[in-house]
Amino acid sequence: MSIRPKKYGVIGNPIGHSRSPLIHQTFALQTGISLTYSAILAPLEGFTATVNRFRTEGGLGLNVTVPFKHEAFAYCTDRSERALQAGAVNTLIFSEDPQAPARGDNTDGVGLMRDLTYHGIELTGKRILLLGAGGAARGVLGPLVAAHPASILVANRNGETAGQLIRDFGVGAKPQGTVSLSACALADFPLDGVAFDLIINATSASLSGECPALPNTVLQGHTIAYDMAYGSVPTVFMDWASAKGARALDGLGMLVEQAAESFYLWHGVYPQTEQVRARLRAELHSS
Ligand code: ATR
Repeated sequence: MSIRPKKYGVIGNPIGHSRSPLIHQTFALQTGISLTYSAILAPLEGFTATVNRFRTEGGLGLNVTVPFKHEAFAYCTDRSERALQAGAVNTLIFSEDPQAPARGDNTDGVGLMRDLTYHGIELTGKRILLLGAGGAARGVLGPLVAAHPASILVANRNGETAGQLIRDFGVGAKPQGTVSLSACALADFPLDGVAFDLIINATSASLSGECPALPNTVLQGHTIAYDMAYGSVPTVFMDWASAKGARALDGLGMLVEQAAESFYLWHGVYPQTEQVRARLRAELHSS
């Protein structure tokens, strides 16, 4: 008797660009787990219906990408602490009963932290600038605070949203210890002339070939500039940072590491990420 492969996928709109099927299929081969993993395009108004259909067809888990991470959060009745802190879900875990409650988790934050560790970046006592206040920024703020930097400034084009993010974060979150958390509008950036140790671009500006407007003084040679974007690199933000002598990194490693954490949640096995990192890196360079 043959055992049917377990069924997983990634849901989004658009979804054609997603590297998740390649990543999860590579992890499956590596760990000897029999699964299918497909890219699922949901209509903008059809997230819940598409998820429910996937479950009735035997689906056991979904990664969730733009623009559905908030709808995925609402879809779940059982949410991890990481999901609650992020206010968004990127990993859905189903049981075999399609009517049973779904569990939601968020692996974006741990993905970023593992990639920073991979690159040898230590955060304790550091000054961090987090650009953006949308879903991507929200997903990583908790783990960044937990790494005990000296300070985190959240700067966003819309300053109100940045302020709201740190206010929301204060409610029901873990104690922030000695981390100084503040927010501002990009247009009102504090001009104290002190450079940051790490600048994380969690805006979607790179996707449209733009770069958040920042004073040059935010960067020095020791600064690490990390762009969560990974498709078309180097991004304008990375070029801007490199031109000033800073070390610039893209978000490919974060993509692979968040996938590895989802894989672990579904299968209980932690895959090796090095092979997939190398393969995706080679693809990016050849395209
Ligand atoms: P995501 O889930 O990727 O974070 P999002 O929730 O739509 O997507 O948030 C996009 C973020 O990128 C926001 O912080 C947005 O700033 P606003 O809140 O002011 O809209 C930011 N953003 C998008 N394009 C930008 C640009 N050209 N320059 C600076 N910030 C930009």
